[in-house]
Amino acid sequence: MITADNLSLSYGQGQTRCLAVNAVSIKVERGEFVMILGPSGSGKSSLLYLLSGLRSPSSGNVFYLGRDLSGMRASEVARIRYECFGFIFQQHFLVPYLTAVENVCMGRKDALKYRARVLLHQLHLAGKEKALPSELSYGQRQRVAVARALVHEPQVIFADEPTASVDSELAAEICDWLRQYCGAGHTCIMATHDSQLAKYASTVYSIRDGHLGSAT
Ligand SMILES: Nc1ncnc2c1ncn2[C@@H]1O[C@H](COP(=O)(O)OP(=O)(O)OP(=O)(O)O)[C@@H](O)[C@H]1O
Ligand SMILES: [Mg+2]
Repeated sequence: MITADNLSLSYGQGQTRCLAVNAVSIKVERGEFVMILGPSGSGKSSLLYLLSGLRSPSSGNVFYLGRDLSGMRASEVARIRYECFGFIFQQHFLVPYLTAVENVCMGRKDALKYRARVLLHQLHLAGKEKALPSELSYGQRQRVAVARALVHEPQVIFADEPTASVDSELAAEICDWLRQYCGAGHTCIMATHDSQLAKYASTVYSIRDGHLGSAT
C-alpha cells in the first residue's frame, strides 16, 4: 500500500542542520495497523509528513500503490491526500470560526454531514456539533480532529499522537476503533510515545533519532 525507500528529511542547514528522519525504509500493507513508537523529538511527526506526501523528503522515495509521490504533480499528490488519506494532526489544526460538524466536513460535500454527526456521537461529542473549537476542551478538539480524518472513509489514516490528550479509557477506545477500521481493509499508521498502546497494532516499530527499527 505504502512503501518508503531510504527516506531522509533534514531541517535547517550548516551547524543548525537536524536530520529528523534518517534512511527509513518501510513497507505497509493494506489492512495493517502500524504503530511507530518513540520519545519526543525522535522524528515521528516528520516521518508521517513524508509518508503522507505532506512534505517532500530530502532524499529517498515514497510509493502509494506502487506510484512514486515525488514523480507526481503537486495537484495529483493533493488529490490523493484529499481522497485517499486522512490525517489526524498532533496540533489538530481546527478552523476557529467553524463548528465541530463544519470542521469535520471542511471542504467536502454536504452529504457527509450525516456521517460527521454519527462519528461525533461515537466519539462522545453528541451535543457539541455546533460548538466552536474555542468552546471545546483540548481532548474534545482532538476527537473532532479524529472525526475529520475519518469522515470520507480514507484508504489510509495517518494518526499523529491521536490519544495524547484523552484519558486512558478513551485512548483505548480510539485505538480499538482504528484497529477495527484496519480490519475492514483500511490501513492506519499511527505515531505515539505511549508503549501501552502497542497491543492494538498489527506491526510495531520504534523510532530513535530518526532511525526506524523493529520494536523490542
Ligand atoms: N520545522 C522544523 N525546523 C527545524 N527542526 C525541526 C522542525 N520540525 C522538527 N524539527 C526537529 O526534528 C526532530 C524531529 O521532530 P518531530 O517533530 O518529527 O519529532 P516527534 O517525534 O514528532 O516529537 P513529539 O513527540 O514531541 O511530537 C526534532 O529534533 C525537532 O527538533
Ligand atoms: Mg510529533
